[in-house]
Amino acid sequence: AMLAPRDASLAGRHVLVTAGPTHEPIDPVRYIANRSSGRQGYAIAGALAALGARVTLVSGPVALPTPAQVTRVDVETAREMAAAVEAALPADAAVMVAAVADWRAEDAAGQKIKKTGDAPAALRLVENPDILATLGRGAARPRLVVGFAAETEKVTEHAAAKLARKGADWIVANDVSGDVMGGASNAVHLVTATGVETWERLPKDEVARRLADRIAAALR
Ligand code: CTP
Ligand code: CA
Repeated sequence: AMLAPRDASLAGRHVLVTAGPTHEPIDPVRYIANRSSGRQGYAIAGALAALGARVTLVSGPVALPTPAQVTRVDVETAREMAAAVEAALPADAAVMVAAVADWRAEDAAGQKIKKTGDAPAALRLVENPDILATLGRGAARPRLVVGFAAETEKVTEHAAAKLARKGADWIVANDVSGDVMGGASNAVHLVTATGVETWERLPKDEVARRLADRIAAALR
């Protein structure tokens, strides 16, 4: 009884969630990453499972326990995350919360790069695949595709541009200006084709519960 869903409004649905950062190796001891604790994505995965959904959580490296009733697939790089997302399809909905590294080192060194006393070696970067855009514009597109966007300025404008560019239905836009990432609360705007809804600052668990309820309503 303790693990029974709060209600079963997502019973029979498969929802894919990405969370956490990705790590892009430079050499065996160094990597490129974004700041992300994974907390918001993990809370969303847990809230969806609490509504009875089958949840696949594709996770970058984080220090968090797997939420109850969630199937977790651990990955390190953006390309591994893209492959794991592809492998988890089909899904009724996808919520892409991961802070995917936009670039990776063109050639990760096989051995630790040593200081030479000269100027440091330049790092050549190449762009990673856009997992959300691939899903949002692909043949196996889930019925509902939700992206996240952490912005420091022009928050809703940037989010609306991402909505169109990536073929998402909703973008949850997050104002991280002057904010410490990794905190327990989140101030978000829900940006859709029909407008912007601004939510009050809420604990990440509550943002997750509200979003899960909205997803259940959209799939009903
Ligand atoms: N995203 C993704 N794959 C990428 C980059 C981003 O799936 N390679 C997803 C994120 O998980 C998020 C959304 O796209 O849901 C927006 O990420 P963001 O970094 O804000 O967008 P970018 O298109 O990378 O734009 P920016 O230049 O602002 O970083
Ligand atoms: Ca980015």
